[in-house]
Amino acid sequence: MSIRSKATTAVASAAAMTLFAGTALAASPGAPGAGDPYFPEYGNGGYDVSHYDIRLNYNPNGDQLSGTTTILARATQDLTQFNLDFLLKVKSVRVNNAPASFVSDDGELTLTPRGGVRKGQDLTIVVTYADTPSAVKDRNGITPWTKTPDGALAIGEPEISSWWYPSNDHPTDKATFDVNVAVPNGVEAISNGTFVGQTRQINGWTRWNWRSTKPQATYLTFLAIGQFEIRLYAAPNGQPVVNAYSERLGEHTDAAKSSIERTPEVTEFLVENFGPYPFEAQGGVVTPDLGYALENQTRSTYDDAFFRRGANTYVVAHEVAHQWFGDSVSVHHWRDIWLNEGFASYAEFLWSEHVGEGTAQENADFIYDSYPADDEFWQVLPGDPGPSNVFHGAVYDRGALAVHALRVAVGDEKFFEILKTWLAEKRYGDATIEEFIALAERVSGQQLDQLFQTWLFTKGKPAEAPGRPADA
Ligand code: ARG
Ligand code: ZN
Repeated sequence: MSIRSKATTAVASAAAMTLFAGTALAASPGAPGAGDPYFPEYGNGGYDVSHYDIRLNYNPNGDQLSGTTTILARATQDLTQFNLDFLLKVKSVRVNNAPASFVSDDGELTLTPRGGVRKGQDLTIVVTYADTPSAVKDRNGITPWTKTPDGALAIGEPEISSWWYPSNDHPTDKATFDVNVAVPNGVEAISNGTFVGQTRQINGWTRWNWRSTKPQATYLTFLAIGQFEIRLYAAPNGQPVVNAYSERLGEHTDAAKSSIERTPEVTEFLVENFGPYPFEAQGGVVTPDLGYALENQTRSTYDDAFFRRGANTYVVAHEVAHQWFGDSVSVHHWRDIWLNEGFASYAEFLWSEHVGEGTAQENADFIYDSYPADDEFWQVLPGDPGPSNVFHGAVYDRGALAVHALRVAVGDEKFFEILKTWLAEKRYGDATIEEFIALAERVSGQQLDQLFQTWLFTKGKPAEAPGRPADA
């Protein structure tokens, strides 16, 4: 106040005006995408999120979701407007306590904060909304939100957040999360991290409160609502374990438990191979209606079909491995998906050897031999599969062969040193395949371009199985 009033006649007035009176902000909108070559509209530019507080009410009856998400962020440039990724109907938006005008269009929520925002400024963004997520489609006509007979699943890769909370939806902007969801009494609501208790609400509702304290990608933040049996206990390392089994699993409930209840054991095994577990909690959720498994941070979700024939600890090894490869070290571009799926698939080879059901080499031989040279499988490049083939079998199976090829080229000692160094250096961040290759060369002291060119970036079946003696 005093500086501004004194400055009116002073020579220093121009500088004072810039600092305190505020010159008009030059038009400087934040980008509507994070620059991902496969999914240009995912994420946004101009700010960096540090925390999401997602506070919702969900009524399974009618699939009605409403509530408020509060986002703490910082502007990385001057901003006259900026975007969030979101598809639901918005009721109001505030930025730093002032109402902001907003436009929702095709998954982009564009906000115009009053007077703009300066580079480096802290932002508190409050969005209130209400909608029926299962009725909302994205620009490709897709709805990853799953309405189930007793609740809903907010689970999906590469996208899900736009169906339940506004976000900067790209793995290059991770944040911590509080997810607090109220549901009618008797319904369970499960999310990531630590269970921080239940709070009774008015009118016969209960709020479930969850907290994730390590950096978490938006697509790895999940919600499973319905009738679940929940098991909560401490792992041998003291961490909280929360497992949840849908009450609709029927006769394979026990097969699911015989798999998921071994999550701490699988985690311990992978710690020996990969180094320290990156997160504060463990667990798994098993449900019908998903169609796949997904490595939600600290608490993977599994379709019950994985347990139809009995226990399946391979899928557990795969999803738990993703806690390191995918969740702690995330893709920089979705093109880098081999960094997730190649290594999670290779963890199944390691687990196979550990439980005495076949060595990694035998598994690699089996995969190599199971696809004839003229199979279309060999036409998809694990290192650049294209946006419609991000989860193609080649990313998984040929991806695992690529990892095995690296192992036999550098030897076991260097191989595990590469994995541990990679996971330590990139912990809680994101990375590219090129960075992995450079690190593997640095740690091993070997030139590895040709190996990765053959296994990740060249169409056709490589002439030799990795590690198999030529006369075998
Ligand atoms: N990352 C998951 C896994 O490997 C795959 C998710 C596949 N997504 C899908 N929509 N099918 O376990
Ligand atoms: Zn996977």
